[in-house]
Amino acid sequence: MALSSRQPVEELSSLGTAILDALPINCYVVDRRMRVVAWNRTREKGPLGHPRREVLGRHLREVLSERGFRATLPHLRRAFDQGRGDAGLSESRDGSRLFYVRRLPILRAGKVTHVASWFEDITEQRALELRLIATDRLAYLGQLVAGVAHEVANPLASIAGCAEALASLAAHGADEARARETREFLDLIRGEVARCERLVRSLVDSARSDGSASADVPTIVATALRLLERHPAFAKVRVTSRVPASLPAAGIDGDSLKQVVMALASNAAQAMPAGGRLWIDAREVDGGLRVDVRDSGRGVPLQLRSRIFEPFFTTKPGRGTGLGLAIARTLVRGRGGDLVFVARRARGALFRVLLRTAGGKA
Ligand SMILES: Nc1ncnc2c1ncn2[C@@H]1O[C@H](COP(=O)(O)OP(=O)(O)OP(=O)(O)O)[C@@H](O)[C@H]1O
Ligand SMILES: [Mg+2]
Repeated sequence: MALSSRQPVEELSSLGTAILDALPINCYVVDRRMRVVAWNRTREKGPLGHPRREVLGRHLREVLSERGFRATLPHLRRAFDQGRGDAGLSESRDGSRLFYVRRLPILRAGKVTHVASWFEDITEQRALELRLIATDRLAYLGQLVAGVAHEVANPLASIAGCAEALASLAAHGADEARARETREFLDLIRGEVARCERLVRSLVDSARSDGSASADVPTIVATALRLLERHPAFAKVRVTSRVPASLPAAGIDGDSLKQVVMALASNAAQAMPAGGRLWIDAREVDGGLRVDVRDSGRGVPLQLRSRIFEPFFTTKPGRGTGLGLAIARTLVRGRGGDLVFVARRARGALFRVLLRTAGGKA
């Protein structure tokens, strides 16, 4: 390499050199004439490295590869002219390594006298990031699939119940009363199939939140109870619902609210295998609505109360997915409401759904 200029370059102090050498990045500094004034220890190593003594004082064109120089020059010029640094990613020639490259203007007396350029090899770091993103997506996908399966299980059970009832009606010949009942069951089946479709769509599109949802609580509670009556689990459960017809509309979509009520009522029935009572009470509270689902079952032991809303937490191995409460809470929270367990001295469990009124605040 020939010396590109006879003029001496400004030398770095020994502390400056030591500091640059301590940095675990590939760094060099050029002056306004593109001569190398600093070249740190890390920059001496690797396939692109040169010993410092060979490059100090030389023009950058003689130091970098032709391709490297052509790619770097516009960035350095911009830093000198505009006094602003930049950063970007750059690949090695064979594409096997990825670098994060930065250029920073060095100002003295308000003038850019030098530009520092450094790069870090981030190949391994980027590979790790990509792996983490993939793992994250897989975990999300797993939860989503489990969520869809859980949500669809309820309507399917209702459909199966209706189909069974239809079969027994069909076995008894048709008179006017049976024909009416048959039509009713068919309507339920149609409704549940449509609900499955909407549920799957809304679960997959979990980012939806247009704030315009509205549900009539008395109607939704009545429909949920009508569907639950068909479940064998409710055979020995006496249900009392106190839901005033005059309630304002709730700020949640009807399907989600029905899903929440059904998840809570199913849990209640499962907590009373020998039978018991279930109360559903709704009332208007300050700025919103409150729906209480209470049962006379075995209750939730103190040590489990902080865990029951966790996804996949269940005390029904083989029978439960542990997603009922987690999904129900996600659905109401997504609409600015909440679902909580209310501790009481009395027997049984009380779950409280807090909802915004449609178009109102939480
Ligand atoms: N009303 C209740 N009484 C007593 N324990 C309850 C009640 N509701 C929920 N739990 C407890 O909370 C746990 C989690 O409920 P969650 O609905 O999330 O899942 P799961 O009912 O176990 O399963 P899945 O909903 O998939 O059938 C239950 O396993 C149960 O231990
Ligand atoms: Mg459940």
